[in-house]
Amino acid sequence: MLILICVFLLGLTFNETKSKIVTLFSSGKILNIPSSKDYIQVLRPFSYGYNSTHLWSLRLADENYFRLAKLLPCRSVEYYGGPKVDKIDSCDHSATNEFSIQNTLQAQKWLYEHQHPIDCTNKRFAVIQNYAESGFGSTIHQIVWAFGVALADNRIAVYRIPGNWLYGDCNSSSPDCVFLPITNCSIPSKLDGNQTITVNANIGHWSKPIIPSTFQNRTFNWYRAQLLFYLMRYKPETLAYAQHTIAKFFKPPSIDLQHPYIAVYVRRSDKVRKKEMSQSYTLKQYFDLFDGDARRANISTIYINSEDEKVFNEFVKINKEKQGYYKLLSITVERNIVFASLTHMTKEQRGKIVLEFLSDLFIEVNADLHVGTLTSNWCRLVDEIRLVLGKIIPFNTPEKKFLMDWRR
Ligand SMILES: *[C@@H]1O[C@H](CO)[C@@H](O)[C@H](O)[C@H]1NC(C)=O
Ligand SMILES: *[C@@H]1O[C@H](CO)[C@@H](O)[C@H](O)[C@H]1NC(C)=O
Ligand SMILES: *[C@@H]1O[C@H](CO)[C@@H](O)[C@H](O)[C@H]1NC(C)=O
Ligand SMILES: *[C@@H]1O[C@H](CO)[C@@H](O)[C@H](O)[C@H]1NC(C)=O
Ligand SMILES: *[C@@H]1O[C@H](CO)[C@@H](O)[C@H](O)[C@H]1NC(C)=O
Ligand SMILES: *[C@@H]1O[C@H](CO)[C@@H](O)[C@H](O)[C@H]1NC(C)=O
Repeated sequence: MLILICVFLLGLTFNETKSKIVTLFSSGKILNIPSSKDYIQVLRPFSYGYNSTHLWSLRLADENYFRLAKLLPCRSVEYYGGPKVDKIDSCDHSATNEFSIQNTLQAQKWLYEHQHPIDCTNKRFAVIQNYAESGFGSTIHQIVWAFGVALADNRIAVYRIPGNWLYGDCNSSSPDCVFLPITNCSIPSKLDGNQTITVNANIGHWSKPIIPSTFQNRTFNWYRAQLLFYLMRYKPETLAYAQHTIAKFFKPPSIDLQHPYIAVYVRRSDKVRKKEMSQSYTLKQYFDLFDGDARRANISTIYINSEDEKVFNEFVKINKEKQGYYKLLSITVERNIVFASLTHMTKEQRGKIVLEFLSDLFIEVNADLHVGTLTSNWCRLVDEIRLVLGKIIPFNTPEKKFLMDWRR
């Protein structure tokens, strides 16, 4: 915090400084919900990723979100599976709320600068290779672990090219196929096990996370979410695909014109069959989690997605009982896609499926409220990105296991 304030002061003349400081300390909530002007002052050098409303291509929690959030009762969520139970209280608007937008901007700038040094010569590297053959969310979480290994050892992470990432339909077969490049340093040609090491992204487990000293006071949940967010910055092509999908299925054809809306992801099928979820939940059980809050905040637009097509029939029935209160948003994508079906597809088919996944993700993370299941790696991807954006109100099915675990 102190560092931030110092940087902040440097960007201002004395008179401006005085009035800004008064604002900063005169209202407890201002620190957490400052005006966008303040951020610009703090983070002028971060202009490549941040522009007062958006971080990379995603809209940060804004005044509209916080106004709505204040109408809702407090909720808390406990994240199990890490070094300790990390708790988030949705009413924590204090300066100590670690999911504040300032903390996010500081982390994203730090990560970007670590990965984009002014000079790459004599740097230490970790080459990420051997991606896990698992579901999309699971493989991403393991790449995040590998990135964490690189950072813990003060190394720049690079992807081995070509890689074997199941989801990448481009020549590099790495996450760079759909996300912005992890670094602008080129891949070192010599792997000497000293200056340049390799890290396999299919075995990882955060048994004892090492967090860089700058972030030593943050929770594991926060730190990991920041790494994930950095790695998943959409490439312009990926963003364009998501926006095209939205324009095709939503009226009006833009995400910004849907607010306020709730996004619900219903995860079932293999997750339930393999007992990674304790049970399958009916759509009605999901509605029971948020219906009261939705009405309190006058939210009636709902986006629903699931790999299970049956949820849309369930929706028709529920909405009839609710006198048609909800207006449905959905996209038409290939359904019943689970990990086992992906492995039988061609690289091109998988490439298209991944863009569909990332279109859905874009809609879910932009939602005002989100409803899902934290034992699903997919729902956790969404949850983590939302936390980074400053949206901390949870609606999760009552699953109590593996909430932050690495594999599932
Ligand atoms: C900020 O960036 C977003 C996404 O890149 C863009 O849509 C938006 O128009 C930009 N806003 C301003 C104020 O420049
Ligand atoms: C990488 O990006 C940084 C920050 O934008 C820049 O200073 C540096 O020159 C770039 N390095 C290369 C090799 O392009
Ligand atoms: C990708 O690889 C194929 C086959 O090696 C090659 O023909 C093509 O030009 C490459 N595409 C790009 C964009 O480098
Ligand atoms: C490892 O690399 C460092 C520089 O990064 C060098 O000083 C040291 O001698 C190297 N050790 C070996 C065993 O090569
Ligand atoms: C972490 O917390 C300790 C104890 O409150 C404090 O002394 C230290 O400066 C903090 N470190 C950072 C990097 O904020
Ligand atoms: C919700 O809508 C009702 C009816 O239009 C209105 O009376 C009420 O003030 C609204 N509540 C909020 C919190 O916007």
